[in-house]
Amino acid sequence: MNVHPDATSVSPTSATGKTLRGTLWVALLLALGGSCTYALIHPERMPDRIGEIVEDVTGANAHPVKLVLPPVQPLSAVALIGKEMFYDKSLSASGQQSCASCHNPDHGYGPIGKFPVQLGGPHLNLPGYRPPPSLAYLYRQAPFSIGPDAGETDTPVSIADQASAAIGTQRAVKSADVTPAAPAMVPQGGLFWDGRADSLQNQSIEPMLNPVEMANTSADEVAGKLQHAAYIDQFKKLFGEGIVSHPDLLLSEAMFALGRYQLEESSFHAFSSKYDYWLQGKARLTSAELRGLRLFNDPNKANCAGCHLSQPSPDGLPPVFTDTQYEALGVPRNPALPANKDPNYHDLGICGPIRKDLATQTQYCGMFLTPTLRNSASREVFFHNGIYHTLKQVMDFYNFRDLEPEKVYSRDASGKAIKYDDLPVKYQANIDTSDGPFNRKPGDPLSMSDQDINDIIAFIKTLNDGYKP
Ligand code: HEC
Ligand code: HEC
Repeated sequence: MNVHPDATSVSPTSATGKTLRGTLWVALLLALGGSCTYALIHPERMPDRIGEIVEDVTGANAHPVKLVLPPVQPLSAVALIGKEMFYDKSLSASGQQSCASCHNPDHGYGPIGKFPVQLGGPHLNLPGYRPPPSLAYLYRQAPFSIGPDAGETDTPVSIADQASAAIGTQRAVKSADVTPAAPAMVPQGGLFWDGRADSLQNQSIEPMLNPVEMANTSADEVAGKLQHAAYIDQFKKLFGEGIVSHPDLLLSEAMFALGRYQLEESSFHAFSSKYDYWLQGKARLTSAELRGLRLFNDPNKANCAGCHLSQPSPDGLPPVFTDTQYEALGVPRNPALPANKDPNYHDLGICGPIRKDLATQTQYCGMFLTPTLRNSASREVFFHNGIYHTLKQVMDFYNFRDLEPEKVYSRDASGKAIKYDDLPVKYQANIDTSDGPFNRKPGDPLSMSDQDINDIIAFIKTLNDGYKP
């Protein structure tokens, strides 16, 4: 449509008019320049829309928050004992392995190297069954339960009862932006990939006695080693001389100490990543990192935040990048895993074989705890069977599982992908096929482009602790 110029323009024609207009323009530009500079310095004080534009341009967080971080305090006397124990190789049968051997403090308390499992045992030649998870960010981990209300009730219920009660209820919807109307019954909380330990304290004895880890043959043997430990005087000072002649007591205080160490030592929950600083308005993300974050959170794209929660809680608790729930993702079988030499060996997670109490609850076969993604860029083994060694491989799994499975799974004689090749067919209905990015059907476009994947990886790298703003 053409509009006659005379109808709209009211251009002043006189010389004074022209000067006046020039002055107004200069004033307007100065004002704009001023508020832009202000917006660049303080994007959080701008209205939402402007804040977002500034976020795009500068990478600064338009909505910074005050995070409620765990206190940084000197370790208590009992946690100091736990620290000695954590690094004490003399507590293992080999004399060469401590907790830190498999949970390295420089790798988010996760493993070093590409081997899917660690070697342990009396001669350090026995392979484990799963890669060590990160021990960081477990300080808010609740005990294992099934269903939304467990943990809030005082009535003790057995997990098996909870599991039976949950049969037939709907499964949880994992979308980065949807809160389901009716809460679903889901396995959640707990420690280990299958949730079989409830507290850091109760967990600690397991690696000490595990024949493929620190390999002590009995609790008494561990107590005997503690009696000769360099720090036994610290035990006596805290718990009385008598503790030495009470192996049970010595052992339970020792396990308590290991638990306290992991809870009190701030490097187990440092929240010192670039993303934490960004959340608090103290760091700027690059454009790739910012794009990655948005894709990570976008329910229609990667939807990673559907399970790896990325937002602070309403009361300011920083996100730990897991909803602490269990999922069956149908991760491919790892031929490099020593246990998999036996074609009949299947790690089914919650329903066994390592965890024993829920073996009959087959609706949970194949489910594993969603791990934190904090510091995961410092790992070289991913998933419960250590199948992948790079974040790119992990991203390809999420992208191709449903649309190009031949890129993910082993193949049959005719070259066809054997989908979900690590889970017996009878349990495959447990696999998540409804939450993005697993909701794609043949013919749909991939949920992530190469560029998207690079950007999401750039974002995941901002989750490594130790960033200096
Ligand atoms: C030989 C390697 C090895 C050693 C030594 C070891 N761990 Fe582990 N740790 C593992 C593996 C493997 C897992 C996962 C096992 C599973 O899921 O079944 C694990 C899991 C854990 C978990 C659960 C973490 C989570 O996210 O659920 C905690 C806590 C833990 N270990 C603490 C310790 C402590 C404390 C010590 C020392 C007393 C120790 N570990 C020694 C290999 C090791
Ligand atoms: C439906 C829930 C869900 C969604 C959505 C999801 N994950 Fe996961 N993620 C899991 C679970 C469960 C595991 C562990 C699975 C296993 O080992 O069998 C896992 C494992 C991982 C691991 C390995 C971590 C480790 O320490 O081994 C990475 C990395 C990861 N996810 C990244 C992502 C990214 C990136 C996205 C988005 C593209 C994403 N996840 C989407 C649930 C989810």
